[in-house]
Amino acid sequence: MPDVKNYSQNASENTGSVKPEGEAAPMLRVNNIYKNFGDLKVLKGVSAEIRRGEVVSIIGASGSGKSTLLRCMNLLETPTFGEVWMEGKLLTPVDPYLHFDVIRASATYRGLIDGGMSDEEAIDEIKSCDLLKEKHSAEGKEYRARMKAIKKENGIDVNLMRQKMGMVFQSFNLFANMTVLKNIMFAPVTIRTRQLRAAKRKNAWISFSNLFRKEKRELIPIGTTKEQIVAEAREQAMNLLTRIGLAEKADAYPSTLSGGQKQRIAIVRALAMNPDVMLFDEPTSALDPEMIGEVLDLMKMLAKTGMTMVVVTHEMGFAREVSDRVLFVDEGYIKEEGTPEQIFKNPKDPRLQDFLSKVL
Ligand SMILES: Nc1ncnc2c1ncn2[C@@H]1O[C@H](COP(=O)(O)OP(=O)(O)OP(=O)(O)O)[C@@H](O)[C@H]1O
Ligand SMILES: [Mg+2]
Repeated sequence: MPDVKNYSQNASENTGSVKPEGEAAPMLRVNNIYKNFGDLKVLKGVSAEIRRGEVVSIIGASGSGKSTLLRCMNLLETPTFGEVWMEGKLLTPVDPYLHFDVIRASATYRGLIDGGMSDEEAIDEIKSCDLLKEKHSAEGKEYRARMKAIKKENGIDVNLMRQKMGMVFQSFNLFANMTVLKNIMFAPVTIRTRQLRAAKRKNAWISFSNLFRKEKRELIPIGTTKEQIVAEAREQAMNLLTRIGLAEKADAYPSTLSGGQKQRIAIVRALAMNPDVMLFDEPTSALDPEMIGEVLDLMKMLAKTGMTMVVVTHEMGFAREVSDRVLFVDEGYIKEEGTPEQIFKNPKDPRLQDFLSKVL
């Protein structure tokens, strides 16, 4: 049973459109995310925006939902309700409760209005009691058409979009059976050769169908070969390794590296995909204390290059020093957010005050 009572918008303050527009669109936007695991309600209506070039830290007690929030951002978890937007594109299914024009097009809304409710009352009733039908078909043609239109206008190939998000985990997740160099080259080579194969297949089809056409279709220009793709990926991987001082480890296997080295390789591996945003889930928690510094230094360097970063972290020093903004997650909500100065020097929420008193 969805829990939509806490939706922050109410009918009077919003006309329904939540589409972030064009260039001004934030890098990432989560809009009223709920995540349930069975009966366990982990996120209970979380909204947040990550702007281009921002470094945002997510802090909070263990079990509060930080990782779940981060995993919802790149769809490693599918939110139960709510929407995730990236660069103005909708990555999740349309959540009708966030679009008042859609609610107004539903059979349920019309029923309530006919029964004498005002527009505002009807929308509030529908949201708080979760009245829109799960399968949506019962809500009528116009309702379904609007849902479809939103998806059509804003939706995108989710896999393509996810490639623009680099993810770094606490446990490194390097491929144990590949050398460092292969680890870094793997994703770019796989994806680019897949694209190359798809283009070749398409060209074969175009050439064939041109035999029967008067007006010939043009072939897709293919300016590369598999060998070139591999050579370029190797060069990029070596450049990245050189930048972090680990070029001599190119042919080593992960098991021979220290934790700090593994994590730096994991970061570089994510960077090899040229991501628009990097998501980190406690990248230093599995490290021995003496190795934390080298990983944080690399992350600081990355922040200085203007990379958009979202970092779940227990490193309060990092959150304070490097972030533009800090989100405090507690009991499934963002209880407080602000600049590091506001969060660490002048916390307002009692739970945040309590949390900081334990970790600082
Ligand atoms: N796949 C899952 N299935 C069931 N429950 C889950 C799943 N993932 C997370 N949870 C539960 O959701 C809650 C929040 O977990 P989450 O990992 O988001 O917390 P966290 O804030 O990242 O904690 P930590 O600081 O310990 O990493 C926990 O109670 C956890 O047990
Ligand atoms: Mg976690």
